[in-house]
This record gives sequence, C-alpha cells and structure tokens, in this order.
Amino acid sequence: MAHVDIKDLSKHFGTLTVFDGVDLHVDDNEFVSILGPSGCGKTTLLRIVAGIVEATAGAVLVDGETIHKPRPDMTLVFQNFRLLPWRTVEDNVAYGLRLQGNSKAAARELAQPYVQLVGLEGREKEYPYQLSGGMQQRVGLARALAIQPEILLMDEPFGALDAQTRELMQDELLKIWSADRKTVLFVTHSIDEAIVLSDRVVMMQSNPGRIVDVIRVPFDRPRDATAIRTDPRFATLRAEMWALLRQDPLAGDSAPGRTGD
Ligand SMILES: Nc1ncnc2c1ncn2[C@@H]1O[C@H](COP(=O)(O)OP(=O)(O)O)[C@@H](O)[C@H]1O
Ligand SMILES: [Mg+2]
Repeated sequence: MAHVDIKDLSKHFGTLTVFDGVDLHVDDNEFVSILGPSGCGKTTLLRIVAGIVEATAGAVLVDGETIHKPRPDMTLVFQNFRLLPWRTVEDNVAYGLRLQGNSKAAARELAQPYVQLVGLEGREKEYPYQLSGGMQQRVGLARALAIQPEILLMDEPFGALDAQTRELMQDELLKIWSADRKTVLFVTHSIDEAIVLSDRVVMMQSNPGRIVDVIRVPFDRPRDATAIRTDPRFATLRAEMWALLRQDPLAGDSAPGRTGD
C-alpha cells in the first residue's frame, strides 16, 4: 500500500511555465487518471512523481517521504517502451527481476504468474517480433507488474494502439487491476479511457498547465467495461469532461477525442 501527495508543484523549463501550483492526493490502491490536452504537462508531472525530473517548486511525497530519486516500489510505464527484441516473452517479463539480482531461473519463475495474468501463457518462448502490438504492450505491463511495485505510473500506455486493441487493453487492465490492486496514476488524453478505468479523473488545462477539476467516477468495482460504455451515466460524465476540456483555448485539434482515440 502506498499513497502519493503532490504539493503545490511547479515546473519551469527556462521561461516556459509547464504547470504551476499542482496539488493532488492519490490514495492507497486508488486509480487516478490525469486527462488533458497535449502540452499541459502530463508527462512532465508523471516524470517528477517518478523521481526522474526535478520540480522547480513544491514536492511529491510517497507515504510521507519526499521523492528525490526513483523508488524501487514505483514503476513508470510509457507508450513507447521498448521490449528487448533479442529476449523471449518470459525473459522480457523477467527483466526487472533480473535487475533486482534474481538468477535467471528464479526470475523466470517469479515472472510466470504475470505472463499468465496478461494472457500470454503458451507464448513464453516467443520473441517480440512474433507478437501483435497489443501483446507487446501486455508484455510491457507484465514486466512492470512483475517487480510488484506499490505504485504504477502509466503515461498513455495504450496511445500507440488502434482503437479496438486499445479497448481490449483497457478491459485487460481492469481485470488485472481488480486482481492485484495498486495505486495507479494513469495519464491519458482519451476521455473514454479515463472514465472506464478510474476512480477519479483529474482534469488539466494548458498554458500554464493546471488542474481545473477532479471528477469522481461512480461505477462500482469490479467493472465491466462494455457495460460502462453503454451506461447513460457514461455519456453524462463524458459530456461534462468534454465541456471542461474545450474551455481550453489552446486545446484546438489536440483536444481529447470523443471516440476513445
Ligand atoms: N526537457 C524539456 N525541456 C524543455 N521543454 C520541455 C521539456 N520537456 C517538456 N517540455 C515542454 O513542456 C510542456 C509540457 O510537455 P509534456 O509534459 O510532455 O506535456 P503532455 O505530456 O501533457 O503533452 C511542452 O510545452 C513541452 O514542450
Ligand atoms: Mg505526454
């Protein structure tokens, strides 16, 4: 269990103010999405939480401890993660465990349940090039989960997938998350994705980036993604979020799509 406190956080690059005065609490085992147009600072925010970029002002605390560098119990998963092409599925999943000092055999054994969890049982000996994009993404997810982080930071992990695969991955992630609840901070620019997955959605606008609202998603857990997508409350929530995001004058064409882009 772990909770995250983001306190009055600001980030400047030279004269550019990426965001200012960001405050957010993410509870133990809570799934929170950050939704906002390109350039509002989502990636930068997540990297600061991960401890790989320094804030200009403010602080990030995990269980009350200020972040200065990456923590072993917190993992960042991003869109263009690279699987190791010369390693099999099982060895890619086991990779983080190897880095933690486990022997090859031990790492494979520890990785096995996560291969199963993401539905890749039977594909252990295959190489990344033999897998579809969605399967590769699942390998990446299994690799992140296998080291059993308390906190999972995800930066548009499904952004490179086609719409259909993306929905399948959302369903998959819902299942995995129900089985193995983590504290999750999930960045997306898809309204639909944010609603389906999250307990709360943090709405950001740009220039400078800031939080304009935090919206609670009322659907019970465990969730059925298909049922949610056809629930009348889904349409209402989506309209509410869309209205907030389109108030951003700079959002323009990069504003979040209505179609689960
Ligand atoms: N290392 C950097 N140096 C200078 N500017 C940066 C750097 N990283 C990000 N930015 C700028 O910060 C702003 C926010 O970027 P980013 O966090 O990637 O936004 P998002 O993920 O919401 O699209 C953008 O204007 C981007 O160009
Ligand atoms: Mg980004």
